[in-house]
Amino acid sequence: MARVGLLAGCSEDSGRLTRRFGTPALADAGELVSDWMRAAGMTVRRDAIGNVIGRIEGAEPGAPALLLGSHLDTVPDAGRYDGALGVLAAIAVVERLREAAGRLPFALEVVAFADEEGSRFGTAFLGSSVLAGSFDRVALARLDADGVSLEDAIRGFGGDPAALDGAGREAGSLVGYAELHIEQGPVLEELGLPLGVVSGIAGQTRAALRFTGRPGHAGTVPMELRRDALAAAAQTVGEVEAVARHTPGLVATVGDVSVSPGVANVIPGQADLVLDVRHPEDADRHWAVALLRRRAGEIASARGVECAWEPLHEQAAVRCDPGLTGRMWQAVQDVGAEPHALASGAGHDAATMAAITPVTMLFVRCAGGVSHHPGESVSEADVAVGVDALTRFVELVAERLSKGTVTS
Ligand code: GLV
Ligand code: MN
Ligand code: MN
Repeated sequence: MARVGLLAGCSEDSGRLTRRFGTPALADAGELVSDWMRAAGMTVRRDAIGNVIGRIEGAEPGAPALLLGSHLDTVPDAGRYDGALGVLAAIAVVERLREAAGRLPFALEVVAFADEEGSRFGTAFLGSSVLAGSFDRVALARLDADGVSLEDAIRGFGGDPAALDGAGREAGSLVGYAELHIEQGPVLEELGLPLGVVSGIAGQTRAALRFTGRPGHAGTVPMELRRDALAAAAQTVGEVEAVARHTPGLVATVGDVSVSPGVANVIPGQADLVLDVRHPEDADRHWAVALLRRRAGEIASARGVECAWEPLHEQAAVRCDPGLTGRMWQAVQDVGAEPHALASGAGHDAATMAAITPVTMLFVRCAGGVSHHPGESVSEADVAVGVDALTRFVELVAERLSKGTVTS
């Protein structure tokens, strides 16, 4: 918990926690984590995008690794546990198993992903996509709010854009991936349980919508002659909310709006929205995204406004691996807690990693379900039982692997 506080001190902003990809604040957090990994007996490296990866060998040097971890970046004005807790819990597990590590039938690795939230470039999961070999080079040209490209940001962060494609893990070099994370919802608190075992992760689509109208004088252009980009965007935001409210399981959010030229006495000529759509079922999400795209176009054209749609991110829904999830369930029971299965509406690096290795996740109860907010909070007792369970999980996977297979 002290380390959580130290990481929270690594921020771009004074007085609040903001730690986006490629910033000095993220570099500082990576340094702290590297030091703690080394102190736990791990060798540490940074990959081409700046993910920090620690490794401690098992019985056979060079054996495939069981990977534990989460992300180090945050949203602006964040809580201190989203991502960071999973990285620190993973290091704590290695500290506890340090003596036993040399007898394990796998290496233990801990990863601190450099970007999960996508807060700087509007994307998501940049860090885990590099490890999973699914990084899309098209994203390199994306610009942040200051006009810095992702490619330059990676270079400035000590990474190597040319090496991104080759930085994926070889199939067979991983036994699995396990991530501890705060729940970010109210279910465990409601049930009075400290830990949850994740059954699956909702799929998500992010897109940028640009409405282009005609700027003009706010005092002279009659209402019926206007082509107001913001009015079209605003009507679209209302439609997004209405469609999500009427579609079971669907959540849809417009979390960012920018207007140009953005002054009181000019009719907006351009409005940009960022849309995030999620559903546990991919078919329902695809249906909703197609509907929203069509509606945005209709709303715009009825107002004489252009609407351009740029896909930013697409993540299929993921089912956690039944074998590893069974081990996690057992681990929670073995440390004296009552497991509860729940699905994740939040995105996690585990969803990207599922493309190359079996994944499982453990949720820790958080106060009021508050997350992506400085009010995020967990109890020390819950974190303790979470670290106990994650440690036990590693032991159970080792026992299973010694008998033959990890995923059944
Ligand atoms: C990550 O926190 C997400 O679910 O957007
Ligand atoms: Mn988050
Ligand atoms: Mn997170």
